[in-house]
Order: sequence, then C-alpha cells, then structure tokens
Amino acid sequence: MAVPIAENVYWVGAVDWEVRHFHGYSYHTHRGTSYNAYLVVDERVALIDTVMRGFEDEMLRRIAEVVDPARIDYVVANHGELDHAGAIPAVMARAPHAILVHSKRAADSLGKYLPDGWKRQVVGTGDTLPLGRKTLTFLEAPMLHWPDSMFTYIPEDKLLLPNDAFGQHLASSERFADQVDPAVLWDEARKYFANILTPFSKLILRKVEEVQQMGLEIATIAPSHGVVWRENPMQIVEQYVRWARGEAGAKALVVYETMWGSTAEMAHAVAEGIASAGVKVRVFPVPQTDHTTVVGELLEAKGIVVGSPTHNRRMLLNVAALMEDLIGLRPVNKIGAAFGSHGWSGGAVPLIEQRLKEAGIEVVQEGLALTWWPTPEERAQAVAWGRAFGERILESLSRRAE
Ligand SMILES: Cc1cc2nc3c(=O)[nH]c(=O)nc-3n(C[C@H](O)[C@H](O)[C@H](O)COP(=O)(O)O)c2cc1C
Ligand SMILES: [Fe+2]
Ligand SMILES: [Fe+2]
Repeated sequence: MAVPIAENVYWVGAVDWEVRHFHGYSYHTHRGTSYNAYLVVDERVALIDTVMRGFEDEMLRRIAEVVDPARIDYVVANHGELDHAGAIPAVMARAPHAILVHSKRAADSLGKYLPDGWKRQVVGTGDTLPLGRKTLTFLEAPMLHWPDSMFTYIPEDKLLLPNDAFGQHLASSERFADQVDPAVLWDEARKYFANILTPFSKLILRKVEEVQQMGLEIATIAPSHGVVWRENPMQIVEQYVRWARGEAGAKALVVYETMWGSTAEMAHAVAEGIASAGVKVRVFPVPQTDHTTVVGELLEAKGIVVGSPTHNRRMLLNVAALMEDLIGLRPVNKIGAAFGSHGWSGGAVPLIEQRLKEAGIEVVQEGLALTWWPTPEERAQAVAWGRAFGERILESLSRRAE
C-alpha cells in the first residue's frame, strides 16, 4: 500500500525483509531494510528517489495505486547509490516525459551506471522546482555520505527528504518511527550512524548548523531507509549532533578473538576490572559478534580494549578485520588499549596498538601481553589492568565535562 506521509505525498518504496548484508559484508542488516521512494502529487508529479533493482515492480505497483506512473514529470535522484537509483531505468521506461533531476556530482555516479538518453536537469543548493502548490527545494549534502548526496525539501509541508541521512536499516510494516518499538528503532539508528556516517561526523555538525541558519522548518523527516520521523523529528537531528561530537558514557567494550581460550580468560578478567571501576562493560567475541554490532555498540562507549593471541606473529584475522573497519570509520573521541596471550615471539599486542592509533583512538595504557594460559597472579594482573582502563575512562569523561 502507498502510505501518505504528508498531504498528497506518499511513501511508495519497498520493504526488503530478507537482506542480511549490505555494502558487501561490511554492514550486517540484522533486521532487513526498506528502500523508501516518495511520490509527490500536484499539478506536476515528482518521484523522490527509487528503490533497489529487483524491487521496481513493488514500487511501481504502489505508485499506480495513486497515479498512473506515466504521469510522473520528475524523478529526483538525491543520491546515485544503487539501492536508491537502481530502479530509475524501470521508472523512466514507464514515464516517457519524465525529467531526471540530480546534483552535479551525480552525473558521475549515476552516469557511470545508468544508460543515457534521458532528459536531465542538474540542480544545486537553493534551486527550486515548482510543482503547482508545492515546491521542491534542493540542498546539496556532499559526503553525506557520497559526493553526489543531496536533500530535497518541500517547504509547504515542512518535509525534509534527506535520503540516507537519518535512516535505519529496518524492515517493518509500520512506516513511522513512533509506531515501532523505541529500543529497536534506536538500536538500528545508532548502528546506521556508527557504521555509515561516523567518518563524516565533522560534516554532519556543519550541515546541521547550515540548516539551522537557513531557518528550515521541519515537521517531518523522511529518510531513504527505515521509518519516517514525524513526532518530534528534531530528536534524530539532535541525536546525530551528539553522536557526531563523540559524546559517550561511562561504558567500555572488550572485544577479543581466541584460539585456545587464554585471551578469552584475559578478556573476562579485564572486563571484571573495568566494571570494578564503576564503568559499564560489554564483552564481545569476534567473529561470533559481527563487526556491525561492535561498531554500533562503540558509538556510545568511551573506550575499547581489543585482545588477540599472537598467530604467526600477527593478530588473528577477525580482530584484524575489525581494526581495518575502525581505521576507515575513525570513531570520535575514543580511548583504547590492547591485550593478548602469546607463546614465544609475541606481536599481536603492539600491532593492535598501532591499528588503534591509526583509527584515531587514543591508546591510554601499555598493552597487556601475557604468555600461554594466565596464572592466577596474571589473572589478577589483568583485573588490575582493566580497572586502570576503567579509571582512565572516568578521568577522560570528567575532563570533557569540565
Ligand atoms: C597456529 C599458531 C600460530 C602461533 N604463532 C605464534 C607466534 O607467531 N608467536 C607467538 O608468540 N605465539 C604464537 N602462537 C602461540 C599462541 O599465541 C599461544 O598459544 C597463546 O597462548 C594462544 O592464546 P589463546 O589461548 O587466546 O588462543 C601460535 C599458536 C598457534 C596455534
Ligand atoms: Fe547510500
Ligand atoms: Fe541507502
């Protein structure tokens, strides 16, 4: 069913209940996702974004409930990524006089995927497209999260269509944020920000400021994935500001991989120590915990300690993969440390420390490298090491609060 989200504006997207990974395996979509396309029906008809290839029939069916797809005058592509642009050819084939509207930078991203020969209109910040009673207004949002990214705004409805910003990978029969379980909603919104938007934290702060200065009134935020924010839509914007600033609580993650359990034993002792300092702690073995979850949990935690045994002079593969992910994401204002068991040469702990630094995480204490299975004394040493890390978390939080 097409679902009205404002007067004569309809959600006509598709729900992907099955998808479990996105962007290769870099994003585990635990709860599926949706591809949100929005139809604006006025004297002229505009479709804002489309859906993933393979879902075009579902979208076209929803459009046809409202208007004949042949009536579409404008297809606005806010972003050239194929989860939104993939069904453009199917729409253009059904809407013979439609004009494809996109940002200047989308000429690259879209142009390289899609066949040419359509009527096109390039728009930039401040450009408008009158539809009759309603007006489409455009605001470029480069690197949120691609160079081509753009927001569409309809002032008459105070409706912001920011494409991937403010989204969640969440498949649901409900279309609005206030209809879904808040714990699920915020879990998915947090994971989405952490795994997709963290590298652009500074740009997000600037963009929010820019929107505030423009004085855009916002009654509804309709992103391209997940549910629509209609009740107090600024709550997600305010949350993005807190996340982008790296605001975190007295919480730490202990993430580790092990071959024979020694590093796991250390992880538990370290966690005990962190908790004894009065800091909340969560222990995540990898790959039993996927890195999308770990990165999502890290967003609101101040610190992360990473453990690996030494394996052929290196860290184990799943810890290495997580570190590679963190280097790309560069989480904001985090502290970290490394630990692990080894037999003879060692090597994993200093390598993890190096990776933490590359990820912009401040290494606040010397790594804890033990040999073979930890003795009771070494276990106590690991508890003390964890406690010291917990204290560093409390210190850095109180420094920030000053
Ligand atoms: C395949 C393999 C390769 C290893 N390579 C190294 C190494 O290069 N240097 C080293 O110090 N220890 C090495 N070790 C020893 C382990 O680091 C040691 O057994 C450690 O206690 C394992 O920790 P875990 O119980 O957390 O798996 C290796 C062990 C295995 C099984
Ligand atoms: Fe995207
Ligand atoms: Fe997307």
